[in-house]
Amino acid sequence: MKEIWESISIDRNSKKAIYQQLYNQIKSLILDRRISTNSQLPAIRKMADSLDINPATVVKAYEALAEEEYIYKKVGSGSFVAPIQEDSFYQRSDKEEDSLEMLGYGQIELDEDINFASATPSSSLFPVEDFKEAINKVLDRDKGEAFTYQKSQGYYPLRESIQKYFNSNGMSIPVNEIQIVSGAQQAIDLLVKIFLDYGDSVLIEEPTYPGAISAFKSRAAEIESLPTMEDGIDLDLLENKLSKKNYRLLFTMTSFQNPTGICWSEAKKRRLIELAEQYNLIIIEDDCLSELSYNGKSYLPLKAYDKSGQVIYIKSFSKIFMPGLRLAFLTLPDKYRSKLLAAKHATDISTAGLTQRAMDYYFREGLWEKHLENIKELFHERYQLMLNQLREKLIPPVELVYEPNGGIYFWLKLPEGISAEEFYLAARENKVALLPGDIFKLNKDAINSTKSSYFRLSFAAVSDAEIKTGITRLKDIFDNLENKSIDKGYIPLV
Ligand SMILES: Cc1ncc(COP(=O)(O)O)c(C=O)c1O
Repeated sequence: MKEIWESISIDRNSKKAIYQQLYNQIKSLILDRRISTNSQLPAIRKMADSLDINPATVVKAYEALAEEEYIYKKVGSGSFVAPIQEDSFYQRSDKEEDSLEMLGYGQIELDEDINFASATPSSSLFPVEDFKEAINKVLDRDKGEAFTYQKSQGYYPLRESIQKYFNSNGMSIPVNEIQIVSGAQQAIDLLVKIFLDYGDSVLIEEPTYPGAISAFKSRAAEIESLPTMEDGIDLDLLENKLSKKNYRLLFTMTSFQNPTGICWSEAKKRRLIELAEQYNLIIIEDDCLSELSYNGKSYLPLKAYDKSGQVIYIKSFSKIFMPGLRLAFLTLPDKYRSKLLAAKHATDISTAGLTQRAMDYYFREGLWEKHLENIKELFHERYQLMLNQLREKLIPPVELVYEPNGGIYFWLKLPEGISAEEFYLAARENKVALLPGDIFKLNKDAINSTKSSYFRLSFAAVSDAEIKTGITRLKDIFDNLENKSIDKGYIPLV
């Protein structure tokens, strides 16, 4: 196996000091648990030679790591990885350039006034009055029962409501296969716990949702990726992999994928199911956005084509409803139910009862359909406005990689010479938040990993006025960077 330290690389064009780059990458390897506690760091000279940098730079990085207790020194033997402090993951650093590193941990600083980074609908879109009615009705009806522990599998009437809703949308899911969870992120984490042994192999689309990569890494999975294409991954490539090696799971988003916005074609969905059956591959389908189609086409989840139970379907209500409810569900064949219940119990016993009961009321009273219609119309209008603004001010020379016709994301590509990281930092200085493509990559720190020129803009959290101002600001930022990049190059040495 390749030494983990070989994944460290130095970008000599970066504005970050070399010792800082080394410090950041070693810290990430430690916090991602890709190197275990008490393992030895390469000797200073060896590290310096392999990166072709000055030994004093390595000393400086090691000293900074030791000072923050990520590593410890043993006199005469070298430096070793220290046990991870529980709060290290979320410790804010006072260093400005660490905002990029924090994105890698799923954290974004929120002092920007235009937020194209967030995929969470603005809170003004939440149906607060209707949900207040649901909560009040539930409390009048159920009294203290609403505050008892629910069954770990979830509140039965809510599971029935979910079944009815999805049956009317082309999916046939038995109630006993529905598990309520506290968000799709929890669903991924539970599935990782029940399906993955340490070191198992997992396949992902790339780019993909970083929360899934983190969950797989937490189990030290061997993760391999297949490039995302306009209509889903290349299935010949997948078959080739499956015929050579045993993979436990494949993680995919088949509708309005995060971050690219693509949807799988029906033909590819059908063939993927056949391959999954043939090679006994479990597929996790993460569906946050399939309802948000703006071209009249409906996008059935992969699960709707699955007759043999190879697909585990996760449905989040965060992007189309209210993320703070922490409510989602997954479907899982009966044979895995006891394992899943044990994992759910060990994680949080059950999802909050009041929330489940209010959501059930919301479904039964037809409020869900009403909300969905509203949010779909509103997002459709925003989508169109954002696309028009982008076409008017940025595209071209910036490229819209796919035209999604749905969802909440635009995946864009900068012309050669400008990296998305640079664009992100410049936008941040001008109080516009966006997400650079690197955070959706599997091995963003690997050697030879070129800086991504892709970035994601979401319109979930911005008003119409913010879309207009934000895209104008991005145009100015882009023009500035482009002029700078034209200026680069050789000048006479006099
Ligand atoms: C693809 C995907 N899956 C899961 C999640 C997490 O969703 P939840 O809020 O339901 O945990 C997100 C959040 O951004 C996401 O984009």
